[in-house]
Amino acid sequence: MTTPTLLPDGDPQAGGLRHGRPKYLEVRDLTVAFDGFVAVDKVNLSVTQGDLRFLIGPNGAGKTTIIDAITGLVPATGSVNHTGTEILGRKVHKIARLGVGRTFQTASVFENLSVLQNLDIAAGTRRKAKELLRRRKGMDPAVQEALEIIGLDKAADKQAGTLAHGQKQWLEIGMLLVQNSDVLLLDEPIAGMSQDERDETGQLLRRIAASRITLVIEHDMDFVREFATSVTVLAAGKVLSEGSVAQVQADKKVQDVYLGTAGMEGH
Ligand SMILES: Nc1ncnc2c1ncn2[C@@H]1O[C@H](COP(=O)(O)OP(=O)(O)OP(=O)(O)O)[C@@H](O)[C@H]1O
Ligand SMILES: [Mg+2]
Repeated sequence: MTTPTLLPDGDPQAGGLRHGRPKYLEVRDLTVAFDGFVAVDKVNLSVTQGDLRFLIGPNGAGKTTIIDAITGLVPATGSVNHTGTEILGRKVHKIARLGVGRTFQTASVFENLSVLQNLDIAAGTRRKAKELLRRRKGMDPAVQEALEIIGLDKAADKQAGTLAHGQKQWLEIGMLLVQNSDVLLLDEPIAGMSQDERDETGQLLRRIAASRITLVIEHDMDFVREFATSVTVLAAGKVLSEGSVAQVQADKKVQDVYLGTAGMEGH
């Protein structure tokens, strides 16, 4: 994509267009080294609002490390621009407040609390103190909306620990939605899900990606084929290929990397 250069620096707003232009996340020359081992090597990656981008690649390729770097969990060099705002080098909580949300390979919800309480706590991190003091009656509209989007409105009072595996992942996504995250970085959200849960998750991702910047790490190629609008292939810390599913599957470099592994036929 061409980089919009006229946008002023500032906090991006969640949902919808900003100055009539789509929001974007532009990663440039992102590099992460662990004790001299280069896990992410000059990665360039641009994701625009509305795209449902998948990040694929063999185990150890550096996929999770890219998300860790974008969200400030590991030190990195290069640049990560969120719709006009440089976020690399900022503190974890600041990056989250700038609308960048992520999930982890293992779901991390508060198991002893209800679905609603989990969402309320997440929403609390975005609410202004004044708003909290007002002691609003009834449900926060953002929480209600998130419950509907993630399809857990009937399970609002259920203890999160008793949810099915898939539902926990949806709750985690809901927690990002109520925080007004407009960048969603999801690390293997369908791992361990049943086929039905996968299908529902794919539909959920489509819905939320329409107005957000969405990057999904995934190994299951059937899922990628069905739901990706574009794919970035990572291998040994470098971007190997990028394009539509058909384009990257036809790429000889990608085929070579997957040769002798579980392959691109999924598992
Ligand atoms: N904190 C760390 N310290 C040292 N090395 C690390 C650290 N985190 C990751 N690595 C290494 O960096 C490389 C990339 O790891 P990463 O977890 O990003 O891979 P991945 O593509 O997410 O793999 P998977 O598909 O298995 O989740 C691996 O070789 C890993 O061992
Ligand atoms: Mg990983």
